[in-house]
Amino acid sequence: MGHHLIAPSVLAADFGNLKSEIEMVNGTDADWLHVDVMDGMFVPNISFGPDIIATMKKYSIKPLDVHLMIEQPDRYIQAIRAAGADNISVHLEACTHLHRTIQLIKSTGANAGVALNPHTPVTFLSDILEDLDLVIIMSVNPGFGAQKFIYHTLNKIKELKEMIITKNLSTRIEIDGGVGLQNAESILQAGADVLVAGNSVFKAENPQLAIYALKNLGISGLYA
Ligand code: DX5
Ligand code: ZN
Repeated sequence: MGHHLIAPSVLAADFGNLKSEIEMVNGTDADWLHVDVMDGMFVPNISFGPDIIATMKKYSIKPLDVHLMIEQPDRYIQAIRAAGADNISVHLEACTHLHRTIQLIKSTGANAGVALNPHTPVTFLSDILEDLDLVIIMSVNPGFGAQKFIYHTLNKIKELKEMIITKNLSTRIEIDGGVGLQNAESILQAGADVLVAGNSVFKAENPQLAIYALKNLGISGLYA
């Protein structure tokens, strides 16, 4: 497999030991730390905001990949960036003026991404794709960890990959939800560049080995 990135999702970490969980990730070849912000409106769940992200930033040597599952994200982009976000992704479904929101993210110096719910077609990105560093294709309905991967997502990855190649862009495709060793290879074969992994990492018997196995897919005999 190529040079895909791994982004462990801190939502599945033990919040009582956040510092040591982040230090555990620091000790691996994970590429980013995925950080899920939920507002209880766009999604049914509430997670954490800028102050907790600033605490994560204090301990993480990995770039923070922040996934905003919130209504009217423009209200928080400056604060999320100030807290230490390196990538900021907003949901297409939460943005009336998506182009403006993406420019706002870029004006802070962060990399800009758009996340799509499972029912949102990738073609909705055709007039904004050039401006994006990242697209997050949700392979579960956002709001919770430990859900089942929706296999239709593989078709969306292939379609988006073709759009990116046709336009000669370097936009990364990130897959979020229900990703683990059981499906990682088919997700990468479909064209994904970044794998988010929450429960399959933090709830594994050996989380560092789980990250290693996801990063080194195709090398047989390593899987826990
Ligand atoms: C879901 C979040 C995901 C979640 C993934 O709303 O966006 O990032 O943490 O968790 P797993 O990998 O357990 O499905
Ligand atoms: Zn996420």
